Amino acid sequence: MYDFRPDAAQAPAERYRELLGAADALTADEPDAVANMANVAALLWEFLPDLNWAGFYRIAPAKRENASELVLGPFVGRPACIRIPLGSGVCGAAAQSGATQLVADVNAFPGHIACDAASRSELVVPVLRDGQVIAVIDCDSPSPARFSQVDAEGIEALAALLATRI
Ligand code: SME
Repeated sequence: MYDFRPDAAQAPAERYRELLGAADALTADEPDAVANMANVAALLWEFLPDLNWAGFYRIAPAKRENASELVLGPFVGRPACIRIPLGSGVCGAAAQSGATQLVADVNAFPGHIACDAASRSELVVPVLRDGQVIAVIDCDSPSPARFSQVDAEGIEALAALLATRI
């Protein structure tokens, strides 16, 4: 049994140090990408307050065209859109640009895809391996402007840790 108990009074940067340590411990010796993404989605949910969705989209072959798109991976939250074209919505923007998307108000983001109508703000961080985006980590919150630069840097560190483990 793994019993990670985040401290509610913790400063965000300290919270991310512990989240990273837990993610490292759970994924270091495990070669299965799905297992690692599933456990990290659970950790995001346990460690980060005020989320309504946390999980992964992976770059995968598109169903019909000879192209790639984002395909839903392990997550915690309500059932979500399964396939997202590169460049669409916040996740597609992160995947196409390779840059973190920190969105204070999802309703002001052109093309935002509302998988859960409760979402008000969103943080999407690309996972890069050998310079290529292989997945994105998506965190949604029901509160406007929930995510800060500390969150962006914390999830970017997590993405770097996971680059060769998912
Ligand atoms: N809102 C995202 C779609 C994924 S869900 O939030 C889980 C987007 O605009 O890309």
